[in-house]
Amino acid sequence: MDFLVTQLSQFTRFFILWQGGMMVLDGSLSVGGLTALISYCGMFENASNSITHKVVEWFRNIERAGEFLDVLDRIPTVKDEGTQDFQDMSSVIEFKNVGFCYPSSPDVKIIEDISFKIPQGSSFGIVGTSGHGKSTIMKLFLRLYNRSEGDITVDGNLIEDLSLAKLHHQIGYVCQTPELFSGTIEENITYGLVDYSQEDFKEVCAVTEVSTFIEDEENFPKGY
Ligand SMILES: Nc1ncnc2c1ncn2[C@@H]1O[C@H](COP(=O)(O)OP(=O)(O)OP(=O)(O)O)[C@@H](O)[C@H]1O
Ligand SMILES: [Mg+2]
Repeated sequence: MDFLVTQLSQFTRFFILWQGGMMVLDGSLSVGGLTALISYCGMFENASNSITHKVVEWFRNIERAGEFLDVLDRIPTVKDEGTQDFQDMSSVIEFKNVGFCYPSSPDVKIIEDISFKIPQGSSFGIVGTSGHGKSTIMKLFLRLYNRSEGDITVDGNLIEDLSLAKLHHQIGYVCQTPELFSGTIEENITYGLVDYSQEDFKEVCAVTEVSTFIEDEENFPKGY
């Protein structure tokens, strides 16, 4: 479309120069009149170019909106159908013979026959070389993906039988590549929470020690 508009405006300019030149030669148009005509054409061209760009941009945005709506229309493969309630996460977490392939590479086993038990109240670390599946293990526990084989349980209950919202509510997850949304620090920290008090919010900031650098006016003059 841009190409078409450029060609059209060049043709119009050529036509005006040609026709105007002929009229100047036969005396029906003065040189001043031709100069004025050419400058009016330039102004008209600028205006029509900016309208064309707006129209092109508008069509591009409609296309992007379509892609966005496609994402919203996707039906998640992880279903939240668990009804079993549980009190809190100070429970025994167990992986039994868990295996997993990402849906995009169904033939590549990222995790194979993994078993471990995390006793109540203990700290547990998973160590391994890059790309060996540490983050994937956490994603399976969060049920961002359904595992392909084996069982993951909390106090003997399969994680599919637990309410997904309640499971997520019990887990504090700091991902490897954190994203910040445009907005205030408070909006970022409380993202997804509808019901929280300022006391809770400040306590979280103190416990995680983010308050130490956010409350430093040199770093963030507007604070949270
Ligand atoms: N969404 C995905 N689709 C397909 N393969 C993936 C996807 N995410 C990760 N992988 C692959 O799964 C493997 C394990 O990745 P994972 O991120 O769990 O490793 P990691 O042990 O956490 O690595 P690192 O130490 O670098 O954080 C890698 O080979 C990675 O390329
Ligand atoms: Mg990782």
